[in-house]
Amino acid sequence: MTRPVILTGDRTTGPLHIGHFAGSLRNRLRFQDSHEQFLLLADTQALTDNAHDPGKVRRNVIEVALDYLATGIDPERTTICLQSGLPALAELSMLYLNFVTVSRLERNPTIKDEIRARGFGRDIPAGFLCYPAAQAADITAFKATVVPVGEDQAPLIEQTNEIVRRINATAGKTILLEAQAIIPKAGRLPGIDGKAKMSKSAGNAIALSAPPEVISAAVKAMFTDPNHLRIEDPGQVEGNVVFAFLDAFDEDLVTLEELKAQYRRGGLGDGKIKRRLDEILQALIGPIRTRRTELAKDLPYVLDVIRSGTERARSHTETTKHEVVEGLGLFVL
Ligand code: TRP
Repeated sequence: MTRPVILTGDRTTGPLHIGHFAGSLRNRLRFQDSHEQFLLLADTQALTDNAHDPGKVRRNVIEVALDYLATGIDPERTTICLQSGLPALAELSMLYLNFVTVSRLERNPTIKDEIRARGFGRDIPAGFLCYPAAQAADITAFKATVVPVGEDQAPLIEQTNEIVRRINATAGKTILLEAQAIIPKAGRLPGIDGKAKMSKSAGNAIALSAPPEVISAAVKAMFTDPNHLRIEDPGQVEGNVVFAFLDAFDEDLVTLEELKAQYRRGGLGDGKIKRRLDEILQALIGPIRTRRTELAKDLPYVLDVIRSGTERARSHTETTKHEVVEGLGLFVL
């Protein structure tokens, strides 16, 4: 029995944070046993909105790889590979761009949101507008059928499947496989300031490498219920960042439900729930940080992991490229 193939990845724009851990990293640990998993260090995609700073994109290849390894991704069971080291992905992207229109790219809700967030106006880097075709290349090159991503990425998978159907129709046979997005039910972890998205650039994230005092400071600064002034006041659990984090990381669900009830009734102070969360986060991040510090001392090992993963990935991606070129009936010398 061959296992279903999973492909996911991260743009290498910064080290990962506990939002990534809650949303994707910890699921990836589980997929190692049930799926054939590829993790893509998406440096060329990172460049689509960071062309002014390729050094940042390069540096963060190592940072993200360290985050993968420190959280328990096992390179024996998961293939960690570098996007720019896989030329077939670029070649497939060029082919796929002929099966998608500019207006369809512009209508992609993910792209629309990201263009707005980045304030590109009409000055959109062409590579950025076209990255959905490149992401389709990533997914299909590995023949992935399962793509676990955040909700914001769902339109990219939809567009991938459109390209897959067009290419298969043109070839008159099934060369590429459609993929299914798997979106975590829990939703995304908010930033410590209560904003919907945790991100390093917004300064509302807790890095997986955060030292103990930084974790404690972040928990202290967390947005709770602004109307919960005195301990005896009834407080709100919804929209309360501390409870959102407890929902994500507290394994003692019974106690957590009791705490929520008490908070709603009144009589439970922010200090107490913050202390609980601080303990949980220190216990979660502590071992990751220690392991990350150790790994960072052995960069040749980390590079070796990336190099050998990329080599392993290369044969898969080259095979698919060959099948597409042949399937479309292009000249094969
Ligand atoms: N777009 C993803 C992100 O921003 C990264 C990514 C690149 C990816 N290629 C992919 C995710 C393929 C899933 C599948 O994080």
